[in-house]
This record gives sequence, C-alpha cells and structure tokens, in this order.
Amino acid sequence: MTMQRIAFIVLIATIVVPSKEAYAAPASLVTFVFGDSLTDVGNNNYLRYSLARSNYPWYGIDYVGRQATGRFCNGRTVGDIISEKLGIPPPPPYLSLAQGDDAILNGVNYASGGAGILNDTGLYFRLHKLGARTLIFHGLGPLGCIPSQRVKSKKGECLKQVNLWMQQFNSRVNNLIVSLNRHLPNAQFAFADAYPAVLDLIQNPHTYGFKISNTSCCNVDTSIGGLCLPNSKLCTNRSEYVFWDAFHPSDAANAVLADKLFNSLFASPPAPPPVH
Ligand SMILES: *[C@@H]1O[C@H](CO)[C@@H](O)[C@H](O)[C@H]1NC(C)=O
Ligand SMILES: *[C@@H]1O[C@H](CO)[C@@H](O)[C@H](O)[C@H]1NC(C)=O
Ligand SMILES: *[C@@H]1O[C@H](CO)[C@@H](O)[C@H](O)[C@H]1NC(C)=O
Repeated sequence: MTMQRIAFIVLIATIVVPSKEAYAAPASLVTFVFGDSLTDVGNNNYLRYSLARSNYPWYGIDYVGRQATGRFCNGRTVGDIISEKLGIPPPPPYLSLAQGDDAILNGVNYASGGAGILNDTGLYFRLHKLGARTLIFHGLGPLGCIPSQRVKSKKGECLKQVNLWMQQFNSRVNNLIVSLNRHLPNAQFAFADAYPAVLDLIQNPHTYGFKISNTSCCNVDTSIGGLCLPNSKLCTNRSEYVFWDAFHPSDAANAVLADKLFNSLFASPPAPPPVH
C-alpha cells in the first residue's frame, strides 16, 4: 500500500521567503519544502513504521560522501540542486530537528516519502496566515511513464489513462492557484508545470545526453515495491538513465529538471549587490 502510494502522490511545493534573520547570511532566501519521496531529504528515516525508506545502499551512491541520507535517489533531489543554484544549503529534514530548534527559521524540509495530499492542503492556507507569500507549487509529472507503471502495460508503454489523470489534476491545481492569487491578499503563488518538462525528457532522452528512459538504472523488482534494494544490480553508467528506481529520476535527470525549473521560476537573476 505504502509503496503504491509513492507512485501516485508526488506533490511538491516550495515556499521561498525573504529571510529576516541576520544569521541566515549569505542567504537572502529561506525555503520550506513540502512534498513526498521526490523531495524527501530524510524525514522518513525518523518514521519507525514507514516502509518508504531509502537509507540504505545503493541510495546516495552519487551523493556527498556516498551517503544514503534518505533521499530517494542515487544523488541529489531537484530541491537540492535548486538550493545549490540559490547558493543556500538544502533545508534539513524537519524530523531531524529538536523541538524548538531555531534552525527552523532558516528553512525546513517537511517532505516525506509516501506523503498524502489532502491533509497538506490546509497547510498552505495556514502558511499564508503566517506570512508566506511566495509559494511555488510543482505539478505532477507524467506518472504513467515511470517504470513502475510501464511494467503494467503489455509492451512497456506509458499508461495513457494515468497521464490523463495527471493532466486533469494539474489543470485543476492551476485553476486553484489563479483563484488563490485573486483572493488571498498579496499572495504570489505560482504553478510550475513539471509535466511537459518531464515528458520531454522521457520522450527525447538523447537530447539531454541520456540513453534510456523506459526502465530504471537500478534493476528493481517492481513486484515487491520497485525501490532499489541493497541486493539489486545497478547499470554501468548511472548518468545514462532518466530513472534511478521504478519511481524516481536519477541525479542526472534531476539536474536537467532543476535547470528547467530554475530558469522558468527565476528567469531574471537577482540584482547584484551594490559595489562600494
Ligand atoms: C489526515 O490525517 C489524519 C491524522 O492526522 C488521518 O487520520 C487521516 O486519515 C488523514 N487523511 C488523509 C486523507 O490522509
Ligand atoms: C526500452 O526501449 C527499447 C528501445 O527503444 C526496447 O528495446 C526495450 O525493450 C525497452 N525496455 C523496456 C523495459 O520496455
Ligand atoms: C556516462 O554517461 C554520460 C551521459 O551519457 C556520459 O557523458 C559519460 O561520459 C559516461 N561515462 C562513462 C564512464 O562512460
């Protein structure tokens, strides 16, 4: 059940707020990340009963120190790469912080593999009440094309119906965001539509230097969940694969996606600091 939910509930939102905390220098931005396994940076390690865990090899094999941090990837999440581009450290997993830890003011990652949508939704309104004004809502990708779904078709093709659901969902979220911007004072909520970018990467892997997008680098067993278990075999070149396991893009694919997202969201670079 939990494993299956990973495939479908991939919702990410990033909240970027200007920092008022002097000790957040040199950063001028603080990010709060909400989402599921695509953006989890280790929260699930703290959930004793979660099956959706990735704190074992080969996860993290391309991460700093070859560490399995709980990221559901061989390397960095899209969020990690965006943080790099902003020049700020990726916010720590919420569950790694002690209660009352001031570090929370510098940004936190609440994402949790297998997280649901409905309970989170009210959170955005609460955050708005607390002062968050810039919220970037990442839509769903073409999940009908991830390896865990392709294996359900006869010829390893994308599941069209699943992709249709994703598009319907995205379009409704987009409408919701338009309406929120209209009704919440000073809200600047943005919808970042990941769907076309991810689909392009899957349909034209060669354009981006990839070779394979219809199966994962890690030779996962989709009948027992599709995560990359320690006894799984890896492909020889992890940068040639769009997918790392049956659900999650590889570090190399995340780099491409983060580039696209970053360019679409922060198209105009921040003004350089004044020269004295
Ligand atoms: C929301 O959270 C509560 C517990 O806090 C849980 O019982 C309920 O099932 C959740 N609802 C959904 C739709 O996930
Ligand atoms: C992936 O596509 C290639 C050719 O495009 C095909 O030979 C191969 O069988 C496909 N693999 C899977 C798992 O569908
Ligand atoms: C692995 O694949 C990437 C992307 O196609 C390529 O740039 C790189 O040279 C390959 N590395 C090796 C060791 O073949």
